Amino acid sequence: MGISRKTTIVLLAALLSGALTLYAAEAPGKGRVPEWFKDARFGIFIHWGIFAVDGNGASWPIFNKQVSYEAYMAQGKKFTASHYDPQAWAKLFKQAGARYAVLTTKHHDGMALWDTRQKSGDKILSVVEQTPARRDLVGPFVQAMRQDGLKVGLYFSHLDWSNPDYRAFAAKSPDKFNPVRDSADGKDHPEMWARFLRFHRAQLKELCTRYKPDLLWFDGDWERSADQWDMAGLRRQLKSWDPGVLLNSRMGGYGDYETPEQGVPFSNLGTPWELCMTMGPGWGYRAALEKDPAAQIPSCDLIQILADCAAMGGNLLLNVSPRPDGTIPEWQQQRLMDIGDWLKLNGEAVYGTLAGIHRNHYAGSTTLSKDRKTLYLFVFSKPVNGLMIKGLKNTPARISVLGEPGLHLKERRVGGAPWNHVPPTRFIEVPDTLQIGHGRVVKIELDKPIELYQGKSGAISQN
Ligand code: GLC
Repeated sequence: MGISRKTTIVLLAALLSGALTLYAAEAPGKGRVPEWFKDARFGIFIHWGIFAVDGNGASWPIFNKQVSYEAYMAQGKKFTASHYDPQAWAKLFKQAGARYAVLTTKHHDGMALWDTRQKSGDKILSVVEQTPARRDLVGPFVQAMRQDGLKVGLYFSHLDWSNPDYRAFAAKSPDKFNPVRDSADGKDHPEMWARFLRFHRAQLKELCTRYKPDLLWFDGDWERSADQWDMAGLRRQLKSWDPGVLLNSRMGGYGDYETPEQGVPFSNLGTPWELCMTMGPGWGYRAALEKDPAAQIPSCDLIQILADCAAMGGNLLLNVSPRPDGTIPEWQQQRLMDIGDWLKLNGEAVYGTLAGIHRNHYAGSTTLSKDRKTLYLFVFSKPVNGLMIKGLKNTPARISVLGEPGLHLKERRVGGAPWNHVPPTRFIEVPDTLQIGHGRVVKIELDKPIELYQGKSGAISQN
């Protein structure tokens, strides 16, 4: 008895969908991010570890030979986490209007913040084993964030400047540590590299199975090629433990979204992205910064950057740097509360929105509602002559200001040639009495999904 045509089609479809699933798991996942991440727009990055003790920077003092490896690691003796209160963190982040938080579970220095069971050489390198903190700091973080409805991201550095199987490739200088990038790629010690990869995978398995993160925020992929790391295999493995886990880009191209760092991109990257940035110099805690207000980025700059990211379809992951005892410096808390206050009034223009219109239409940041029927204009200084918008074909049904119920703005229409479908240039009048504060949002409700004129105006045949 032959196989019917229908059965053949069903079988082929099943095979194809299987192949596609496999492809999806293997392929660099560009663009495939869950809805929560697209809608979130704002997350908090937390760089915390033994590096907070001396406050000279996270891990990089080792690489840059500012201190000896031993002196750097000695910071562990004073890392107490004595006032660590992840519930207070969660409360603060929620107040700030963040939708997710990402904690450094292991920075390049190799010191794990959880109770890893994996040996780095002959010892276990974790704050549980090596510091007076003596406890898992990741579990309570995960629990507290979830309790407050925040999504959980775990930062993990692929490279590990402590593990002897990793360091060995670089052990070419008298001080036994010399990460010379070009000669120290480890290809001449396959057995050590294989051992390091087993350690790397085993630590990740611990993180994934114990804490079930929503997001794995990788870093430090640059000292080896994607092939050496077997990033394709890693991606498959991580997705097999949790198909829903989101992966950032730092996987040699095998991640789900891009991570520009410290500088806002100039345009929409066309793929999901998140800008990570600090509130001042450095990712880790620096005591000197507490007494140096000039080096602390003001809240209004951070708010404007957040709006700029949203306007280009991206998220902002803003860093805080807790002290060795786990408290977050007050000046950083203040920034977060300012952002939170601003988002309380203006969040409608940020969360769950789409990238806005081109800046040739409006000289500033804009976002659109998902149905594209509401356009939000961000305003960061008082306009002397109204807000100019070019090429808007729709008729605004209503123009208002977020947080100002009952205030309706008028527009002046200048030019336009309806017979040639050229819309007028609009000037939205903003009353002098409107306080701009940390920034306002003008909401333009449209009659139908936005349509923009981008022609050259052409010859005007009637007058
Ligand atoms: C860079 C730095 C690292 C920092 C990270 C955050 O990769 O090496 O120190 O944690 O950026 O994005």
